[in-house]
Amino acid sequence: MKLKITVLPGDGVGPEVTREAVRVLRTVAEVYGHDFSFDEQLFGGAAIARTGSPLPAPTLDACLAGDAVLLGAVGAPEFDGLAGGLRPEAGLLTLRSACGAFANLRPVVCHEATADSSPLKTEVVAGADLLIVRELLGGLYFGEPRGTSREGEPREAFNTMRYTEVEVERVARVAFEAAEGRRRKVTSVDKANVLETSRLWREVVTRVARDYPGVTLEHAYVDSCAMHLMQNPRRFDVLLTENLFGDILSDEAAVIAGSLGMLASASVGGRVDMYEPVHGSAPDIAGDGVANPLGAIASAALLLRHTARLEREAQDVEASIRAVLERGYRTADIQGLEGRCIVGTGEMGTLVAESVAELADMRHAYHAV
Ligand code: IPM
Ligand code: MN
Repeated sequence: MKLKITVLPGDGVGPEVTREAVRVLRTVAEVYGHDFSFDEQLFGGAAIARTGSPLPAPTLDACLAGDAVLLGAVGAPEFDGLAGGLRPEAGLLTLRSACGAFANLRPVVCHEATADSSPLKTEVVAGADLLIVRELLGGLYFGEPRGTSREGEPREAFNTMRYTEVEVERVARVAFEAAEGRRRKVTSVDKANVLETSRLWREVVTRVARDYPGVTLEHAYVDSCAMHLMQNPRRFDVLLTENLFGDILSDEAAVIAGSLGMLASASVGGRVDMYEPVHGSAPDIAGDGVANPLGAIASAALLLRHTARLEREAQDVEASIRAVLERGYRTADIQGLEGRCIVGTGEMGTLVAESVAELADMRHAYHAV
């Protein structure tokens, strides 16, 4: 299998965690005989510092010419004062829309080994396994008109939440199809008691559900869903929601996995798929070598599954993450109770890569006899 991956390390801890994800992908290529090439490009604050733009033209061109984008994180405090369109985050939004990646998949799994690193009770989080399907190209993030009025005092700022039926339908189908391969339940999250966009959302999702008779659909209001996620996360299978609700609920759901550093994401549905950990650039720990690379590595596993269609390899990476955690290795953010071996970013990545190589060896040995 030949794959051209555009790597955008970005800001803060982005370069550190991305390096480990690339390390694991290189190991996969080596032990399974694939040909992966990595094209590293400037992005985010790092690109602003060098070129003035968070998404320079050569970076965008490289992303659109490759098979997949592997991204670290964007955002840096020194650019917080810039106008909206010039910030590192604007580069990410432009890239998502240029790639056409309208469905953002964010799996949230509470691994048995790390259940005690969640501040929630172990009996609440143990066994939780859900998939957030977040609409990624609509809603308040992209809706026009938007802006800050120049005339008059006090000033006024505004954003617009809008959704077309087509936008709702296409992301709903992604959620139902994902549910068919899981526990066959979709919870569609909205605020239909207040918002027109949510009432349209609910109508369209209900209609789409008829095409998936094997999947149960329930509707939930976003406020109540936020509470149920903490109270009983095991009741959720696939959680389908609009852009901003999904952004907020996925950070909340990270508490179930023990740390935001654990969460991976895949942004799919367009010309080129993008893979990035859910966490941000974490400038407070950037460069210290302590960031958790497992979210980035799990994103690489999603790349193997969705873009490369290498399910066996994806499962090997995920099994390796679990194996390393079961052996007691932890980064600082998932310490949990006593008796753990705390390792840095590079060591964690190396452990996962070694485990991938071991699993492949076992498979080869098995097939040799
Ligand atoms: C995320 C991030 C981004 C978002 C930011 C960095 C623009 O928080 O991927 O969840 O809001 O989508
Ligand atoms: Mn977010």
